[in-house]
Amino acid sequence: MEDGKMVAISTLFGVEAPEGAAVFVGNQSREINHGYVFNKRILRKLLSWFEAEPGFQNLGIVGNAGVGKTTLLKEFCARMGIEFRSVSVSGDTRFESLFGRREIRNGSTEYVEQGLAEMFRAGGCFCANEFFRMDPGEAMRMVEFLDSEGELTNPETGEVIPRHPDFRFCFTGNSGGFGDESGAYAGERRGSFALRDRFFIMELPEMSAEDEQKMLVLAVPQLETTPFPERMVQAARAVRSAFVGRGGGLPVDISPRALVRWGNLFVSPAYQAYDTGNGVMSNPMIESLEDACLNGAPDDAREAVLELVKTWIDIG
Ligand SMILES: Nc1ncnc2c1ncn2[C@@H]1O[C@H](COP(=O)(O)OP(=O)(O)O)[C@@H](O)[C@H]1O
Ligand SMILES: [Mg+2]
Repeated sequence: MEDGKMVAISTLFGVEAPEGAAVFVGNQSREINHGYVFNKRILRKLLSWFEAEPGFQNLGIVGNAGVGKTTLLKEFCARMGIEFRSVSVSGDTRFESLFGRREIRNGSTEYVEQGLAEMFRAGGCFCANEFFRMDPGEAMRMVEFLDSEGELTNPETGEVIPRHPDFRFCFTGNSGGFGDESGAYAGERRGSFALRDRFFIMELPEMSAEDEQKMLVLAVPQLETTPFPERMVQAARAVRSAFVGRGGGLPVDISPRALVRWGNLFVSPAYQAYDTGNGVMSNPMIESLEDACLNGAPDDAREAVLELVKTWIDIG
């Protein structure tokens, strides 16, 4: 991390921070999504995680789908000038595959280091998304590097890779390795306590209504001068609190991800009102919502969502 400089936290992350609070930022040539809205408390914890001693450098972020877990880590690293690689794992993911792969080049196969191995060697953050979907036995093989300050053997090539001091490992998941009891997240397994115990696990809370409006307007600036951001956010939050993932009965949700999609579709020319026949006009608000998150959902769930949304937005 040569060539870095100190940057004010308020400027870097777009959050309120005490004057003079600054962090060291490495190479700044990374692409930043200025639309990401940081949760201040979580940000403070992330900053302390990055400064942590070896042994406390393994981080997990858990929370509901679409609350911004993966983007949080990516955007944090982008602003800090830290390399970031992420991969979504599943029940089929083998430990080996996190290190790299064989590629055919000029007619012969060559091994190309990627992801975990690349970050371990050169410094940077490697993130395994949906971590607890991985086979628990495979996941336990990570202990080799989670615990040690030393080296890591590439199981594919046998090569021993020295650990870069700026290597960090993190995961995201809908559960913290306790399996899924809500029924919303099929494939989420119970992980071993031995594995969980090696992580600093943070729960990413839901955004505040205020932050969510900020996010929507940053993502869809055309909505800024309209009353819609406030109403769409209230509607989304009402639906969300009825979602099974949060203990309700609804199998569908308007996650922050879906909210941004809804806003984008709503302002797109493709969703302008048109005559559906006999002078009946389409409703852009409903049509964009359906395409954002309701298509394919059972009829009763759709109806329930529309009822909730209607209490916040006048959609006829
Ligand atoms: N705090 C946030 N600020 C801006 N956009 C967000 C935020 N949280 C979620 N989003 C939106 O939701 C999408 C999904 O976020 P993501 O990080 O993939 O969620 P997760 O990993 O929790 O499922 C992002 O691409 C972004 O559009
Ligand atoms: Mg994710």
